[in-house]
Amino acid sequence: MLDNIIEIAREAGKFLKDNEGKISEIKEKGSFTNLVTDIDKGSEALIKNFIQKNFQGHGILAEESGASSPTSEYRWIIDPLDGTTNFTHAFPVYCVSIAVEQKGELVAGAVYDPNFDELFSAEKGGGAYLNGRRLQVTATDKLEKSMLATGFPYDVKSNPFNCIQHFEEFLVKAQAVRCLGSAALDICYVAAGRLDGFWEVNLHPWDTAAAVLITAEAGGQASGFNGEKYSIYQRDIVLSNGMIHDQMLEVIKKNL
Ligand code: IPD
Ligand code: CA
Ligand code: CA
Repeated sequence: MLDNIIEIAREAGKFLKDNEGKISEIKEKGSFTNLVTDIDKGSEALIKNFIQKNFQGHGILAEESGASSPTSEYRWIIDPLDGTTNFTHAFPVYCVSIAVEQKGELVAGAVYDPNFDELFSAEKGGGAYLNGRRLQVTATDKLEKSMLATGFPYDVKSNPFNCIQHFEEFLVKAQAVRCLGSAALDICYVAAGRLDGFWEVNLHPWDTAAAVLITAEAGGQASGFNGEKYSIYQRDIVLSNGMIHDQMLEVIKKNL
């Protein structure tokens, strides 16, 4: 299963890279900050065709076309282009994210960044890898030594639950806070030990499914804002190397 996920994630990533600067249609999804391009759709079609050809009958949950075959025990969860806003600006931070659930449990996933040719992958119980190298989260145990990342919801202007309070407080309590514009890569960077933690308020299953499995397999921890066990079907997430998780939750809970 993982080999197939990797094969199509690489193919879709190459499609994105080949089409950078060649967007012919940009549409707004409800807000001028939430975009979809013909390239998002092309990447999604490529991935879905692959699944329909090789895994007939499997369920699919894809960002741009929704859910299908809900009765199958397998479900592919697809973000064909995570970081669309970056992509439309030719800002080279975006990726493809594909995960598979079996009976509701994440069993395999890959995130492919075609700009750095970096392939993050994991199978449940098998560890996490970056281009074949085993991943391990950091051992940073103090918030003031940590580097964190976050992102803001598309409705940041109207949504009172918008992360700005958290951002302000983490900015002064952590060593640094980054905002890359691709939640899947942010999370994989925690797995790779490039970041110590991440939080965000308004995510979807396709943003997090593959990367959360990868981070768990690299020894990381994920929860909701109240510290409850994280589900990809909830919108809020706190993710870390485990060591700073409670310190992050303290800041998060104070500003709920
Ligand atoms: C977005 C990115 C961004 C995050 C947004 C997501 P998209 O995904 O992951 O970093 O802040 O909440 O929706 O729309 O580029 O696939
Ligand atoms: Ca996304
Ligand atoms: Ca997307």
